[in-house]
Amino acid sequence: MQKQVELRRGLKDVYLDRTQASFIDGAIGKLLYRGYSIHDLAEKSTFEETVYLLLYGKLPTRSELAVLDKQLKQSRDIPQEVIDILRRQLKAHPMDALRTGVSALAGFDPEVIDNSAEATIRKGIRLTSQSPTVVTTHARLREGKSPIPPRKDLGHAANFLYMLTGKEPDPEEARIMDVDFILHAEHGANASAFAARVTASTLSDLHSAVVTGIGTLKGPLHGGAAEAVMKMAHDIGSPDKAQQYLDKLLSSGGRVMGFGHRVYKAEDPRAQHLRERARGLGEKRGHPEWFQILEAVAKGMERYQSRGIFVNVDFYAGAVYHLLGIPEDIFIPIFAIGRVPGWTLQVVEQFQDNQLIRPLLEYVGPMDVPYVPIDQRH
Ligand code: CMC
Repeated sequence: MQKQVELRRGLKDVYLDRTQASFIDGAIGKLLYRGYSIHDLAEKSTFEETVYLLLYGKLPTRSELAVLDKQLKQSRDIPQEVIDILRRQLKAHPMDALRTGVSALAGFDPEVIDNSAEATIRKGIRLTSQSPTVVTTHARLREGKSPIPPRKDLGHAANFLYMLTGKEPDPEEARIMDVDFILHAEHGANASAFAARVTASTLSDLHSAVVTGIGTLKGPLHGGAAEAVMKMAHDIGSPDKAQQYLDKLLSSGGRVMGFGHRVYKAEDPRAQHLRERARGLGEKRGHPEWFQILEAVAKGMERYQSRGIFVNVDFYAGAVYHLLGIPEDIFIPIFAIGRVPGWTLQVVEQFQDNQLIRPLLEYVGPMDVPYVPIDQRH
């Protein structure tokens, strides 16, 4: 007779540990990084400053920020050997290429096995810098073009867009990308951070944990939603077809991508910053239709709000990326690039007071089955 267990499938509402990284109140849609409101950071901060805040726990002075900025800029190049590996992955999804690229970078990082907080933060800064180069190198190679070397005079977001397109973005577009990276930088015990913590909890290393995080982020229930939202917008085609599309999808038990969240039962506080930018960018680029389709979907989903299903961060992100001219399969890597500092911080926290993460599974299969020799089986 097996003992009765309390199952918490999907670890819903289970507290895993303590953190100083971010605070989320899902009931009212509140998000703080290190105590600071996501709204203040999205409106007033930069990605570089947010990286400093996450990794060091305080807003930087000008000189502290200058030091981090220099480290980020100096770490942007990736070894030729990693470029060669990416060249052999031209058909790979960019998220797979990023996972492979980060894994390969471990072989060139002088501190890969040093799990001290200082070394882990240094490696996190390097991976924050190198991940845009991996993504853009692969993106260029698969189009038969030469990778564009990073520019040391551009900020993190502007340099990413520059390496992707070969054109220096205007300040407004660079700022949109910057805000997007801020919004994606950290988010509690989400599936990819949890997975990264599991890896770190075996006293593996940051590169392994980030590879784990990238693999976990890839799925459509997590980071893959922005790509799926844009596919949905293409399928819908025009705002007047949104309701019909939703009715068909929902009546067959389907899920509307970009809606719902494990923790938020109110609007995801990150969504509003991308909503306004998707609207503005659409008007500026002469393509207001994508925002209009999304707004028609949002209207059609209003009746689900009473069940706690609201738009999440990914709903407007896809339209923003599309309007910036970014291919759809690079949407998830953008989320990953933004999340590297959050994964790093959580790995540092995990190492600081480590406890192996090893839950239990309730066994429900047959018991004590007699072993039958192979020639007596049928
Ligand atoms: N469309 C339709 N119904 C939904 C949706 C949705 N997007 N999300 C949840 N529901 C329903 C679900 O069908 C279920 O209904 P019922 O109780 O009748 O079976 C109920 O709401 C609860 O859903 P759940 O799957 O038990 O809740 P969860 O906490 O496991 O799911 C989620 C969270 C994000 C996986 C889910 O909302 C979802 O699949 N959303 C679409 C994918 C998406 O947008 N993901 C991005 C998340 S935000 C970015 C990030 O941080 O990862």
